[in-house]
Amino acid sequence: MKPARIGASILTADLLHLAKQIAIAEDAGIDFWHVDVMDGMFVPNMTFGSIMVETVRRASKLPIDVHLMIEEPTRYLDEFAQAGADAITIHTEATSHLNSAIQTLKRLDVRAGVSINPGTPVVMIEEVLPLVDQILVMSVNPGFGGQSFIPGSLRKLQRIKELIDAVNPSCNLEVDGGIKASNIGKVRQAGVDMFVVGSGVFNDQASVADSVRALREALAVIN
Ligand code: DX5
Ligand code: ZN
Repeated sequence: MKPARIGASILTADLLHLAKQIAIAEDAGIDFWHVDVMDGMFVPNMTFGSIMVETVRRASKLPIDVHLMIEEPTRYLDEFAQAGADAITIHTEATSHLNSAIQTLKRLDVRAGVSINPGTPVVMIEEVLPLVDQILVMSVNPGFGGQSFIPGSLRKLQRIKELIDAVNPSCNLEVDGGIKASNIGKVRQAGVDMFVVGSGVFNDQASVADSVRALREALAVIN
């Protein structure tokens, strides 16, 4: 199995102290940054645009994983690539011409990702699976941090992992939503190698360092 990598979600960081939050999470040993872009249309919430990617890029050398929860994301791929994204993930439900959008991402020299919502069947990504660098499975309904992991996501992850092994073994399998030290082990066993963690890293219960350590310890038991 590919090594497990933990990405911290900017959405749940304290934006008043962003530079400090970035430094603390990097000292704690996270592997990449996840930037949630929401348009208030595809999801019932709005967050940030490419300026956030530029900002994180100035503060960090870690890979930036951009998650576009916006309608017709093809309009903005170039902008986010220019801003410094290493990977850009678009939603199958929001993109009319998925194949074409993936080709654009390749041309922009960023890692191409496709995401599916909890209610979307796996067949919706099957056709493009051989073309992408990462599949992002939403384990909550997108829009907000701090929600609970939807249990049915485990079976879905297993099924997608089987497809990845069959048609595109180098493709990463990423999960996003409700990942905590209490469930990351089970999710790892389903075949995930990229874990997006928001409130499981930035919360009032524990320091960022302790939270990341707890996630790593839970993963170590599995590996
Ligand atoms: C939800 C976002 C997630 C969110 C995860 O729509 O895509 O990336 O930040 O936050 P937690 O880990 O708290 O569910
Ligand atoms: Zn996300």
